[in-house]
Amino acid sequence: MELYVLRSKEEIGLEIGRRIVERVKQNPYIVLGLATGSSPLFTYEAIVKYSLAENVSYKNVTTFNLDEYVGLEETNKQSYRYFMNDNLFKYLDFKKESHHFPSIENMMGYDEDIKKSGGIDIQILGIGSNGHIAFNEPFTNIDEKTHIVELTENTIKDNSRFFKSINEVPTKAITMGLNTILQSKEIFLIATGKNKSMAVKKILEGKYDPSCPASCLNLAKCKVHVYIDDECYEGIK
Ligand code: F6R
Repeated sequence: MELYVLRSKEEIGLEIGRRIVERVKQNPYIVLGLATGSSPLFTYEAIVKYSLAENVSYKNVTTFNLDEYVGLEETNKQSYRYFMNDNLFKYLDFKKESHHFPSIENMMGYDEDIKKSGGIDIQILGIGSNGHIAFNEPFTNIDEKTHIVELTENTIKDNSRFFKSINEVPTKAITMGLNTILQSKEIFLIATGKNKSMAVKKILEGKYDPSCPASCLNLAKCKVHVYIDDECYEGIK
């Protein structure tokens, strides 16, 4: 595991964005695992910027997103499909059929679909302040593959800021499991801000602690790059 401390989330986005675009140039058939939320926003912005400037094509790139709410249409602004279109896909020449999101219908075959595509070459991850990755909350079974989760009251409350009312927040989501994530060939985790410090500290202890799902990255056989900003680092010291 490698830790990188950069000044800001913008700098992290530029650096990871640069690295990913270089990898797409080397392998136009790359398989990307994608996250939503605020953490990867600057990375997506940088990928778009560098790719357009350097004419990098995504027509052969495949994507698998980490998670999606149950019951939200793609046209719903809170769906993760909408988020990905809005922040990344629509700017580049991806083929629509190359995008994969877990759903009730494909959930049982999602891990198999990832395998058939050759596996995830680069997985981007954010992290919750409680150490969750994707929708894998503390004490999730580490052997879990893609599965359905009932959102906790806390998560529903947290996410309600994006909805008109708390009643509109879906109560279920489908998420890659920790086992799915650990099969990736390379992982970039982004953690910025003080509220992520405790979770990152747990990861840096170097062992797996089920109370912090992200600490399972210590068991990953692949390269794991942990990118944090100064603010997050301040809270760890
Ligand atoms: C989203 C996801 C979540 C977020 C996490 C951090 O696809 O998997 O686990 O990465 O909740 O969210 P932000 O980045 O908004 O702080």
